[in-house]
Amino acid sequence: MVKVHFLLEDLLVEAPAGTALQAVADVAGADITFGCRTGSCGTCRVQVTEGLEHCSAPGPEERDFLQNLNAPPDQRLACQVCVHGDIVVDYLGL
Ligand code: FES
Repeated sequence: MVKVHFLLEDLLVEAPAGTALQAVADVAGADITFGCRTGSCGTCRVQVTEGLEHCSAPGPEERDFLQNLNAPPDQRLACQVCVHGDIVVDYLGL
């Protein structure tokens, strides 16, 4: 199991390693807005403040989207991330 800490609500939840961050957020009731869930709208943008190395690598679509925003590497699209270790996330939105 891995721990995901949602800073906005100070919500700490556990999930099996490899779970999609959007699934963790949905089950936990975290306050992250998901629009497309395909990595193309940006409403689910988060900052991974701890444990970025425990996140799946961004795919081409997510990487291109975030590069267009000039987002730093610790910003990810929650709908595109799988969690492989403990992380802390802060919700940013678009
Ligand atoms: S919900 Fe649209 S990019 Fe994640």
